[in-house]
Amino acid sequence: MRYDFVFISAALACLLVGEALGIWMGIAHDFTLSPAHAHLNLLGWVTLALYGLIHRAYPALSQSPAAFAQCGVAIAGSLALPADIAVSILTQNPTLAIIASFAVLIATATFAAMFVRKAGA
Ligand code: HEM
Repeated sequence: MRYDFVFISAALACLLVGEALGIWMGIAHDFTLSPAHAHLNLLGWVTLALYGLIHRAYPALSQSPAAFAQCGVAIAGSLALPADIAVSILTQNPTLAIIASFAVLIATATFAAMFVRKAGA
C-alpha cells in the first residue's frame, strides 16, 4: 500500500477542516473549540503528514507487518481525538477523549517500534 499517499491525503483533509474551523472561530469570535482546532491541525495535519513523509524516506517501513494497523489506528485516532476534545469541552465529559488519546499513543508507539526495526536495518 502507498502509505505515504494515504497519510498525506488524510493529513490534507484534516488541514482543510482544521483551517475551516479556525476561520469560523475567528468570524464568530468564539474560541471555545480552540483546543479541538489545535489538535486537528497538529495531530491530523502535522503528525499524519510526517508519518507519510517518513514512510517516503524509509520505504522499508511499509514491509512491517504492523504498518497497515498502525496507519488505520493513527488516522482514526487523529480524527477521533479532536472530535472527542470538542465533545469533552461541550459536555464536560472527557471519557471519549481519554479513549482516543490512548489510540493515538498506541499508534505512536507502534510507529516508533516499526522505525527502529525497519529503518535502522
Ligand atoms: C486558515 C488557517 C487558520 C485559522 C484561520 C486559525 C485560527 C485560529 C484561531 C481563531 C485560534 C484561537 C485563538 C485564540 O484563542 O485567541 C487558533 C488557535 C490555535 N491554532 Fe489556529 N488557525 C489556522 C491554522 C492553524 C494551523 C495550520 C495550526 C497548526 C499546524 C494551528 C494551530 C493553532 C494552535 C496551536 C492554537 C492554540 C490553541 C489553544 O490555545 O488552545 N492553526 N487558530
